[in-house]
Amino acid sequence: MNISIFGLGYVGCVGAACLAKLGHKVVGVDVNENKVRLMNEGKPTIIEEGIAELCQEAHEKGLMSATTVAAEGIAQTEVSFIVVGTPSSPEGHLNLNYIYTVAGRIGRALKEKKERGDLNYMHLVAIRSTVLPGTNQKVGEIITEESGLERGKDFTVVSNPEFLREGTSVEDYFNPPLTLVGTDSEYAEKVFREMYKDIKAEFICTDIKVAEMMKYVNNTYHALKIVFGNEVGNICKGLDIDSHKVMEIFCKDKQLNISPYYFKPGFAYGGSCLPKDMKALKTLAHDLYVDVPVIESIFQSNENQKKKAVQAIMAKGKRNIGVLGLSFKAGTDDLRCSPIVDVVETLLGKGYNIHIYDKNVKVSELTGTNKDFIMAKIPHLQHFVTDNLDEVCQKSDVLVVTNKEKDFVDVLKKYPGKIIVDLVRQWKEVDYDGIYDGLSWGNINMNTVAQGKAINMDFKQTEF
Ligand SMILES: NC(=O)c1ccc[n+]([C@@H]2O[C@H](COP(=O)([O-])OP(=O)(O)OC[C@H]3O[C@@H](n4cnc5c(N)ncnc54)[C@H](O)[C@@H]3O)[C@@H](O)[C@H]2O)c1
Repeated sequence: MNISIFGLGYVGCVGAACLAKLGHKVVGVDVNENKVRLMNEGKPTIIEEGIAELCQEAHEKGLMSATTVAAEGIAQTEVSFIVVGTPSSPEGHLNLNYIYTVAGRIGRALKEKKERGDLNYMHLVAIRSTVLPGTNQKVGEIITEESGLERGKDFTVVSNPEFLREGTSVEDYFNPPLTLVGTDSEYAEKVFREMYKDIKAEFICTDIKVAEMMKYVNNTYHALKIVFGNEVGNICKGLDIDSHKVMEIFCKDKQLNISPYYFKPGFAYGGSCLPKDMKALKTLAHDLYVDVPVIESIFQSNENQKKKAVQAIMAKGKRNIGVLGLSFKAGTDDLRCSPIVDVVETLLGKGYNIHIYDKNVKVSELTGTNKDFIMAKIPHLQHFVTDNLDEVCQKSDVLVVTNKEKDFVDVLKKYPGKIIVDLVRQWKEVDYDGIYDGLSWGNINMNTVAQGKAINMDFKQTEF
């Protein structure tokens, strides 16, 4: 394939050399004349293991050249990567000026190509830089504005984030955790599958905004892992415990610790263990005079999720609320620290009519700490809770689904028109003639009239 790469910095240089190694013909484009000269001499613009040899080989095979002129890059290629820098502004916003400048240049170059009669295919522009969701669309708009060309016909914009790490970038390029392409174009997917066919990683083609979001989620999680490990280490040091042994064993648990478990956006945690044990570790750190801001903030974040549930229910503007599931988990009657109990307590305090369905909770049979907990929160629970699901659904305008009990699956079909507040993503997709609102996710089907708020995209930038 003939590929142009806009930006010959770290990622651009590695990308150019590695794409050439995969057999593609690459033209680098950069405003920096020195970098362009280096590439034209078969030399890398960065220092990194293995890159010099790859550049030399690409140069000798005639697979790599560079230019400062965008139109030259576009004239020779059918796919263009944007790999310019996306630094932070002093206020912490993402500065997308370089991206938009390149988009403008690509647009003007495509216009010239079209006028010459050479654009008889759909040019693919791939954003490889790390950019926030919405940038792909904006880049497409800029290209259309500058070229007068139609997205989806003359060109399209693909999101293809880069996962390499400096220091091991060549190795990472050929062995990424996965190859991610965000596009709405079947043609683009086909081209990218072909381009990366020799890279042995799962190829995932997904929604554009999902692809744009991934890099931020990944990197924030990586940062979280580092500070979590450090905070655990600091507590261990205070107790003269070998923190490395602790974290080594922690990482051996591939069922609950290093696994997809618990990673589904949804409702707050609760139950008899997590809240109690979190509190104990936090207090232990406090007693040791060890600062653990991340561990401390977990509790607050969990409380916020309960508040978010209360707000979502109140926003429906109805007084009769049906709560489907009261215990902290499906299939149990354990009410201790069940987060929905706090939500119900708040709503009762505000005068809402609450009807609760939980087939496992028999008020007269509750004993011990389970009974003590619920009686302190909702003393007259027996007036609100029943094991008759239909009765709760009939009496309520809003149904709040709090766990993944199988009985709840048919509620949408049986009670069309009820407002659903789903705290746990009971349904993967909803074909529902009513109002469906997911606590931490938006519309999951176009047929649904959701009440989620639209995301306010704000491209704040700093002038340079
Ligand atoms: N460095 C990493 O390890 C890494 C890893 C993954 C993703 N990323 C992301 O990739 C992107 C690029 O990062 P980088 O480290 O390669 O940046 P970099 O600063 O090393 O390189 C950016 C290049 O873009 C060039 N440039 C600027 N304006 C241009 C224009 N109008 N036309 C052509 N070239 C232009 C610059 O001269 C420079 O050579 C960023 O969004 C970054 O967040 C970086």
